[in-house]
Amino acid sequence: MGNKSKTLALLCLAVLLASVLAFADGQPRGADGMVLEGGDTGWVPFPHHRHQDALGDCMACHTLFPQKAGSIEVLKAEGKLKKKAVMNNCSKCHRNLVTAGRPSGPTTCKQCHSRKEG
Ligand code: HEC
Ligand code: HEC
Ligand code: HEC
Repeated sequence: MGNKSKTLALLCLAVLLASVLAFADGQPRGADGMVLEGGDTGWVPFPHHRHQDALGDCMACHTLFPQKAGSIEVLKAEGKLKKKAVMNNCSKCHRNLVTAGRPSGPTTCKQCHSRKEG
């Protein structure tokens, strides 16, 4: 191997290592497609990663509940989170974006609560 290709090989290794380390160091993103419990009105499909990419801010939602599967229903059952508080956060953001003419999500009951079962 010539010096040039050795340098190139080392550079490739360094880039690879850096990306692996960055991944290990980064927060776990959690599941991509989710279906949230929505009571009698029906289940709520939720594209999690699409929101992470579009918003770039975990705290747009995770100030209300931690980054843990099932935490919304647990907090509601314990009375630490009001029913529909998360829902109102979803709707409020979508409405604001619609008003601003930007890409947004559903704003009516049936658009969100579209399924009877997960
Ligand atoms: C638009 C709202 C929203 C945003 C923004 C958001 N999340 Fe979540 N996240 C949720 C919901 C809803 C749940 C499911 C909670 C439940 O099951 O009760 C969740 C659950 C999780 C979980 C646990 C679920 C699993 O599969 O392990 C992790 C981890 C997580 N989020 C990480 C993140 C990270 C990291 C970011 C930012 C890069 C982020 N989230 C941004 C709404 C959001
Ligand atoms: C942007 C999406 C969205 C819209 C629009 C929406 N919901 Fe929800 N809804 C949710 C989510 C997510 C939950 C579960 C989290 C929570 O309770 O905050 C929920 C929960 C609920 C619950 C169960 C609350 C409980 O714990 O008992 C009911 C009932 C409900 N919604 C009715 C409605 C009705 C009626 C409308 C229309 C006026 C509506 N929703 C519009 C997303 C939505
Ligand atoms: C802070 C703002 C914000 C919050 C909070 C938020 N969303 Fe969204 N939502 C968006 C944006 C922005 C998009 C459009 C993303 C794109 O175009 O890729 C979107 C898109 C969606 C879509 C996809 C609609 C389609 O056309 O396929 C669904 C479903 C959705 N949101 C449901 C929810 C639910 C349920 C919650 C609450 C658990 C929620 N969102 C919370 C900003 C938000």
